[in-house]
Amino acid sequence: MKTHNFKYNPINNFPKSGLVSAESPSNIALVKYWGKKPIQIPTNPSLSFTLKNCHTVTSIEFKKSNNFSFNFTIDGKKNTSFLPKIEAFFSRIKEFTPFLFQYSIAISTKNTFPHSSGIASSASGFSALALAIVQLEQKISDFSDEDKYLKASFLSRLGSGSASRSLYGPCAIWGHHKSIEFSNNEFAIPHLKIHPTFKSYQDTILLIDKGVKKVSSTVGHNLMNNHPFSEQRYNQANQNLKELITLLETEDIEKFISLTESEALTLHAMMMTSNPYFILMKEGTVSVIERIWEFRKETNIPLSFTLDAGANVHLLYPKSYKQTVMDFIQSELIVFCENQQYICDEVGSGAKILKESYA
Ligand code: DP6
Repeated sequence: MKTHNFKYNPINNFPKSGLVSAESPSNIALVKYWGKKPIQIPTNPSLSFTLKNCHTVTSIEFKKSNNFSFNFTIDGKKNTSFLPKIEAFFSRIKEFTPFLFQYSIAISTKNTFPHSSGIASSASGFSALALAIVQLEQKISDFSDEDKYLKASFLSRLGSGSASRSLYGPCAIWGHHKSIEFSNNEFAIPHLKIHPTFKSYQDTILLIDKGVKKVSSTVGHNLMNNHPFSEQRYNQANQNLKELITLLETEDIEKFISLTESEALTLHAMMMTSNPYFILMKEGTVSVIERIWEFRKETNIPLSFTLDAGANVHLLYPKSYKQTVMDFIQSELIVFCENQQYICDEVGSGAKILKESYA
């Protein structure tokens, strides 16, 4: 296997100033990453669907400067709540991106989804920022587009683990698995062998609770370190990942549903059995899950759910059932959504550069 140290020598002149803009989507894990070791090393491998409509557009405007500095705006406004995470990100990536630290940088970012929706903006946000940075590096060094995405995934991981998976669609795998070639803990790899049904799979996100989570993902991950069931969980995730790969390829939707719903509930079971324990689901989360099970039983339509580290419910289903599921949401599920809000998304193709200019 090719080894990477992600340190490239500059061969061209550094631009004095410029702008790079990148777009990157959110993703939803089917086999969940829950538990990590320093620095941002997952305790089990994960696999996600890359999304399409929920994405972040990030521009970095850079200018040569004697001192490195950055400022950050979201939707045109300064936002200090993200600064600690971005500062930690810059200090972690410094050894891999030394060229960046000769500039002062203005980062402006926009999300297509509401900031307070409970949808994690860190996955799309860090992956868009990382891709923009590596695009600038590609301008002054010599490496392929394939290596550009690898490095962007590697850097994204240092911002937020799940961000490493957002670079690639339709699916991405992050974390070492003994039977998956090239899988590793440092960056995600694309996973392409999936049936067309899954390539256009729908994810309608019901916004059950838009408030700030009581326990952050970072705290939750760390609680896995002294968790009574951690070893069993890591073994299960490895096993589930292997099975899921086959199900995605063969279009075994029934087994896909039982595996992914079990993953979602196991994630929350881990939270409920941590010390200290906590619950991120709300009453609406559980009610929606029950309605989905009833609907599936009555109609035989393969509608299922997954959850991330919050109360929102991701409804997963093949595109051909879109209208029926929309009618079901309107008639039975919308009452559980805060301000009747939900977001229609589907499987997408990953991150891309939107524009670049240098002086
Ligand atoms: C439940 O990637 O948000 O969504 O690495 O601390 O930033 P950090 O955590 P984060 O954790 C995501 C957890 C999850 C499962 C997943 O996306 O795999």
